Amino acid sequence: MHDGSTPQRHDRRIPPPVRPPDTALRLLVQNVLDYGIFMLDTRGYVVTWNAGAERIKGYRADEIVGRHFSTFYPAEDVAAGKPDWELEVAVAEGRLEDEGWRIRKDGSRFWANVVITALFDETGELRGFGKVTRDLTERRMAEERLRESEERFRLLVQNVLDYGIFMLDTRGYVASWNAGAERIKGYRADEIVGRHFSTFYPAEDVAAGKPDWELEVAVAEGRLEDEGWRIRKDGSRFWANVVITALFDETGELRGFGKVTRDLTERRMAEQALSEGRRLLSHLVEVQEMERRRIAWDVHDDSIQSMVAVGMRLQLLASQLPEEHATALRQLDESIRDTIGRLRNLVFRLRPPVIDEHGLIAALSSYMAEALPASRLSHSLRDELHEEPRPETAVTIFRICQEALVNVLKHARASAVEVSVRTVDNGTLVRVVDNGVGVDGPVTRQPGGDHFGVLEMRERAEIAGGWWAMTGEPGRGTTVEFWLPNLPILPLPERP
Ligand SMILES: Nc1ncnc2c1ncn2[C@@H]1O[C@H](COP(=O)(O)OP(=O)(O)O)[C@@H](O)[C@H]1O
Ligand SMILES: [Mg+2]
Repeated sequence: MHDGSTPQRHDRRIPPPVRPPDTALRLLVQNVLDYGIFMLDTRGYVVTWNAGAERIKGYRADEIVGRHFSTFYPAEDVAAGKPDWELEVAVAEGRLEDEGWRIRKDGSRFWANVVITALFDETGELRGFGKVTRDLTERRMAEERLRESEERFRLLVQNVLDYGIFMLDTRGYVASWNAGAERIKGYRADEIVGRHFSTFYPAEDVAAGKPDWELEVAVAEGRLEDEGWRIRKDGSRFWANVVITALFDETGELRGFGKVTRDLTERRMAEQALSEGRRLLSHLVEVQEMERRRIAWDVHDDSIQSMVAVGMRLQLLASQLPEEHATALRQLDESIRDTIGRLRNLVFRLRPPVIDEHGLIAALSSYMAEALPASRLSHSLRDELHEEPRPETAVTIFRICQEALVNVLKHARASAVEVSVRTVDNGTLVRVVDNGVGVDGPVTRQPGGDHFGVLEMRERAEIAGGWWAMTGEPGRGTTVEFWLPNLPILPLPERP
């Protein structure tokens, strides 16, 4: 302990000489109730006591004066030598402040803020210690309650399943994740924290700079709300309602973003099913299909039948005419046969007959076998349908696949193409993947001119209440991907 040999250490902080306090001051200290204020002698024995100390610790002055102040410490602190150590520090540093549990007379504990001040006289000699104790149990309990409520709030956010609630840092990288986000988007926290939130956007939105733009708007306006397609871990899309809130600290500096995401796919489907516009448009598509089917039947029952009849007449004639005319007739017959072949093809393209009888997969499979030259383009069809789409939806899927496959033949110079059909989210997800020259990035706009394939595919999908996307990379092939909901459609009025 302090031995007086290094008084200069304390010169700076030597307090005014300890004099008996004047009466007013003594009265004040004596009667203060909020603070326990008392003195210890140089060895730590209690010398004085006040009303606050009595209130806080429960001892009357005559019960405690003369006892060592380690009485106030929990047994484990006494065993660790904490009371003596605190006095040593107070001597060395002039004062010591501590927060911790202390013991009342009845053995109960209170959370104390303690300041011990070493008291030196004018010669620099230690005369004792002043000790001011406050009971912070209330404050600590309030802090504890706050911590608990923050903890409960954190648990709530963590475990909410209906909403994806997570944080982004200032640059848009995912900083936290909750159970709802995992349920909606399919990523576990360890798979997504640290990745950029543009991962959740369709390629065409990323190409258009939408994620960054959304953060900019959130910073400028405080928040941003959006509805649109977002991407799950497995690549499928969901219709999301998204609110991004910019989080500023008290100095006004941007600290990051809070993001709340809801999956409204179901609701959107319900709305779509009821939407008058969609019903009209889908009836339009249906009418178009009916028209095609009618033309197909006409061509089949009328044109093809009469050409077959003409062919038979020609063959008959050829057998009855002299040889010099027969050659010309046989050539005529051959070109008739060619034409019949082309017409059958047209009928097939107008209305794949199997789709009504045998379903989507059979129709796709026979179309691929028929239309794709197996010698230069290997093809496969993956069937992961758990639910057969409704007939109108099946026709739309077939049409889009048809256009996508014709494009593969026309443009891709691919050696392989795979079509996969999967039941996802109460609808059908289709991918047509080739390994050809590849379109450059997400195709968002029509290339212009006479190219209507892309436009038509997208429109068909959107009319059906779904989405459509074409992405690729030069040299690495093209993927056409779309999803159509399995929506009920009210029956058409009287058909002709
Ligand atoms: N599978 C594909 N591989 C490479 N390029 C493709 C593919 N599909 C489409 N494209 C490109 O996209 C363009 C637009 O296609 P589309 O709208 O169907 O018009 P079209 O087939 O009449 O040219 C095509 O001209 C072609 O350049
Ligand atoms: Mg095309």
